[in-house]
Amino acid sequence: MASVLATLAAYLIGSLSFAVIVSRAMGLSDPRTYGSGNPGATNVLRSGSKAAAIVTLLLDAAKGWLPVMLVKWFGPGWGLGEGAQALVGLAAFLGHLYPVFFAFKGGKGVATAVGVLLAFEPLLALAALITFAIIVFFFRYVSLASMVAAVFAPAYYLIGDGVAWTASGAKTLALAAMGLLLIWRHRENIRRLLAGTESKLGQKKK
Ligand code: G3P
Repeated sequence: MASVLATLAAYLIGSLSFAVIVSRAMGLSDPRTYGSGNPGATNVLRSGSKAAAIVTLLLDAAKGWLPVMLVKWFGPGWGLGEGAQALVGLAAFLGHLYPVFFAFKGGKGVATAVGVLLAFEPLLALAALITFAIIVFFFRYVSLASMVAAVFAPAYYLIGDGVAWTASGAKTLALAAMGLLLIWRHRENIRRLLAGTESKLGQKKK
């Protein structure tokens, strides 16, 4: 019962689409109406407001991090372990993709996934962020960098098993599921990348 409630709470937290909430609070246009139309930090940056993009990024990451950390801190007292951590991380991520408060039309999950990775294992998040930064540095495509980092994350998690942490099957599955969903949510970006029409980092809204 505790794991069901924690999963539901994580999904509701994940459903807070901060790109829309922050843009509204800062008097900016709704990110669903310009650029890629995606309610995410990358698209908020196209509004020209770096502050709004950074706040969106931090809050979207926090909503992935916090539910997992709450289960890490307080779960054992309720019989919740690694499996519940994996489940709430995935639930927060799914909330971002399919938010109940925004007609189930959410974002692509990059920042929220970073928050989940950070809560699973900080070194795992660091490895994924370094991968992301290398691809952005060379190609300037946030979408491409996000997808590459998402593919590598489960592999990094398994590589770190027995060295930096003890990998759990549930977390490995959650990472793989998040990676697949993240790529699915980037299918329009993949089409644009192949057509050579994908926006590069820093390009303003059209
Ligand atoms: O944050 C999602 C990013 O990978 C791509 O965003 O707006 O360029 O589709 P966007």
